[in-house]
Amino acid sequence: MKAKIVSTGSYLPEKILTNKDLEKMVDTNDEWITQRTGIKIRHIAQDGEVTSDLAYKAALDALNSANVSPEEIDVIIVATVTPDQLLPATALFVQEKLGAKNAFGFDINAACSGFMYALSVADAYIRSNMAKKILVIGAEILSRITDYQDRSTCVIFADGAACVLVEATENDDEGILGLRLRSDGHYTDLMEVPSPGSHKPCSKEAIENRDIYIKMKGNETFKMSIRSILEVSEDVLNSLDLSFKDIDLMVSHQANRRIIEGVAKRAKLPEEKTIITIDKHANTAAASIPLALDWANKNGKIKKGDLILLNSFGASLTWSAGVIRW
Ligand code: COA
Repeated sequence: MKAKIVSTGSYLPEKILTNKDLEKMVDTNDEWITQRTGIKIRHIAQDGEVTSDLAYKAALDALNSANVSPEEIDVIIVATVTPDQLLPATALFVQEKLGAKNAFGFDINAACSGFMYALSVADAYIRSNMAKKILVIGAEILSRITDYQDRSTCVIFADGAACVLVEATENDDEGILGLRLRSDGHYTDLMEVPSPGSHKPCSKEAIENRDIYIKMKGNETFKMSIRSILEVSEDVLNSLDLSFKDIDLMVSHQANRRIIEGVAKRAKLPEEKTIITIDKHANTAAASIPLALDWANKNGKIKKGDLILLNSFGASLTWSAGVIRW
């Protein structure tokens, strides 16, 4: 028994924040943002809109595409670093909104690698016959933990959600062929949101220190990204007796256009084999890979039988890669 992505779905909030808009908020400019990151616009949730609202709409899109009803779902996994609340899990709010009364749900926090970690759980559940139909959702409202006084981070992060429906297949020629997950707790200070948590509970001081927002050592993180993504991608490909030249499409976490291009260049993958959505989605952490996958799927970039390499890199540090036969 193998796990297979049978449909994709997404939802992006209507409100758009452009680079020009950001010029009015911090000392930055369209040219710097475009050249250094590849981002042109980003979607931002409305006041009152919560992560489970985005996740629910993305899940509905994936369910409708596959003509599957919410009652058929066994598990809902939401990868997010911006849950509706610390408790209960966002997946439970999604379950209620969907009316997926036969499912159980939980959240996963692995930052920008969250979707890949969630996909690995879905893969294991299917292989071990624990479940047959699983919604794997990446959903974020990063604008709520972004410091709009910090130009080094506020130009990068954005909101959005995407979902894949994972089902069991007995066909050996399709589905998730391999996955590799990595983390290194030595680098937890490269990117963090210190509060609220047991270390720094919510307090006036935490708010004044801006500890409730993302703090990132961008350049140090950037330097580690390309080689880490290459290493883990090569590892999963080698384990399947494959190499970069066998890949039809690489769908990467969209953290920075220069990172994706750097990986593609070293892997000798031509531009048409990479998916770039950072220009329109910016960095949506756990939602980024499924958003890019859904965009590729809906825009005719994927055909049946394609070999797809997924890879991620994120806080702090997590990184991963997977190979899928579509
Ligand atoms: N507008 C204009 N200038 C800016 C700026 C902005 N928004 N943000 C930073 N700068 C300035 C810096 O102050 C610095 O100026 P200085 O040279 O006068 O000190 C200069 O630009 C270069 O800063 P640096 O941080 O070295 O830029 P960079 O080329 O590394 O790009 C990132 C910054 C964040 C875009 C890049 O480092 C990155 O993408 N990092 C990886 C992020 C990542 O993968 N995170 C994990 C997954 S989410």
